[in-house]
Amino acid sequence: MRSGFLASLAFALATQPGAASPHPPQQQGERIASSWTTTTISGEGQSRGYVEYQKYCSACHGEGVGRPGTIALQAKYKDALPALLDKRTDLTPQLIKMYVRNGITVMPNFRKTEISDPELDRIVAYLTRNNRP
Ligand code: HEC
Repeated sequence: MRSGFLASLAFALATQPGAASPHPPQQQGERIASSWTTTTISGEGQSRGYVEYQKYCSACHGEGVGRPGTIALQAKYKDALPALLDKRTDLTPQLIKMYVRNGITVMPNFRKTEISDPELDRIVAYLTRNNRP
């Protein structure tokens, strides 16, 4: 029962604040605030964003078995929304940045030294490419 195991792992991590992250919460707020702006990126930036998404996110959010992000979002939304992040059209730049800079349950937070603001802007551009204007 892989998903049962992951659910209990997620629960265990969620009930221990800071267990998944060595960074104190008050510093995270500052990092978000300064990366809050939205940049419009198209074409080449989006395809670089695709490559960066594969590098940083698809191990958990990709297709196939054993991807904790895909499993968790399938359980969260059932069939109301796609389990794959790059099939979604409802994610806003602010929301994506909030999750990436803060993390959630088993998803780690990524610092600017791990994913820079320009990299994150390109990942956002890739993930929001099919959003309605
Ligand atoms: C270690 C695995 C892991 C990695 C790496 C990871 N995520 Fe996640 N992510 C998760 C899990 C698990 C959830 C669901 C958490 C929950 O709600 O229980 C999630 C949730 C999200 C959500 C919230 C979606 C929603 O509708 O609730 C967003 C947005 C997101 N991730 C973006 C990203 C991006 C962008 C990256 C790459 C920069 C990334 N994640 C990397 C595991 C991961």
